[in-house]
Amino acid sequence: MFMVRCLVDNNTLDAARFRTEHGVSFAIETPTGQLLFDTGQSGDVLVHNATQLGLDLCQMDALVLSHAHYDHTGGLEVFLQKSRLGLPLYAHPDLFRERYAIKDGQTRSIGLQMVQSDLTKHTTLNLSAEPAQVLPGVWITGEITSRTEFEGRSSHHYIQAGNGWQPDPYRDDVALVLETPSGLIVVCGCCHAGLLNTLMHVQHIFGKKIIAIVGGTHLANLDVNTWEHTITILRAISAWDMPYLFLNHCTGERALETLSQAFGKKVKPCPAGTVLRFD
Ligand SMILES: [Fe+2]
Ligand SMILES: [Fe+2]
Repeated sequence: MFMVRCLVDNNTLDAARFRTEHGVSFAIETPTGQLLFDTGQSGDVLVHNATQLGLDLCQMDALVLSHAHYDHTGGLEVFLQKSRLGLPLYAHPDLFRERYAIKDGQTRSIGLQMVQSDLTKHTTLNLSAEPAQVLPGVWITGEITSRTEFEGRSSHHYIQAGNGWQPDPYRDDVALVLETPSGLIVVCGCCHAGLLNTLMHVQHIFGKKIIAIVGGTHLANLDVNTWEHTITILRAISAWDMPYLFLNHCTGERALETLSQAFGKKVKPCPAGTVLRFD
C-alpha cells in the first residue's frame, strides 16, 4: 500500500490539531520506505503536523523538492536538523537559481535560501533533469520538457537575465510519480510547469493509467475562457477513466469549484492532516 499524508497546506482538516501556512509538504509511505516531498515554508508547521499524525521525520529515506520557491523549501533547514546525515535529496539542477516576485514595484527574493555547499554537508544531492527513481515505485519526473499548454504560471515570477529580468521558465518544476498496482499517482508541488504539460509528460514517460493527482496545481489564475480548454484536455488525457483530484495549496477555490462541476466526486480538497491510501 502507498500512503500519502498532507503535512503542510494553506488549509487544514482540523484546526484544533493541525496548523496551516502558505506552502506544501507531503509524506509518502511505500512498501519499501518513506520520503518527504517538499518542506512547507517555516519548518514549524511541518514538525507540528507530522507529530500530530504520529510521523517521525527522522525516519525519512529521501527528500524530494518540487521546485525552489520558499513555500516548498523554507522548512528545509528545520527538517535537515532531524533527518539523517547524507539523506538522498532529489531535485532539478536549476533549483539553485535565484527567483524573484516583482509586484506593485516591490522585488522580493522567493527562491531557495540554503546554498548548495550547505546542502551537500547534510545530504547526498541527486540533481538531474532526467526522470530518476527515488525509491522502488517512486519516481521524480525530471524536467517537464514540452510546455505546449499554458497553466501554472504567475505573471509576477521572474529570474535575472543579463542586466534585466525574464519571466521564470520554471525549469526546476518537477512532480513525483507513484507506481501502484492500480495505476500512477502524480503528486505536484505548485505545478508551475503546467498541470496538463505535467500529465502528458508522465503519460509519455510511463505509459500507464493515472488514477490520482494530488497537490498544488496553480490553476487560480485561469480565466473563464481558458477553463473549457483545460477541462477538455483533462478529459482527453484521462480517456474514459477520470483520475481522482486531491487538490490543495495554489489550486485556488474557484478552480476547485469549476473542476468539481466538471468531474463531481472525483474532485476533493486535500488540506493538512489528510491521509490518502492507495492499494
Ligand atoms: Fe507554492
Ligand atoms: Fe511555486
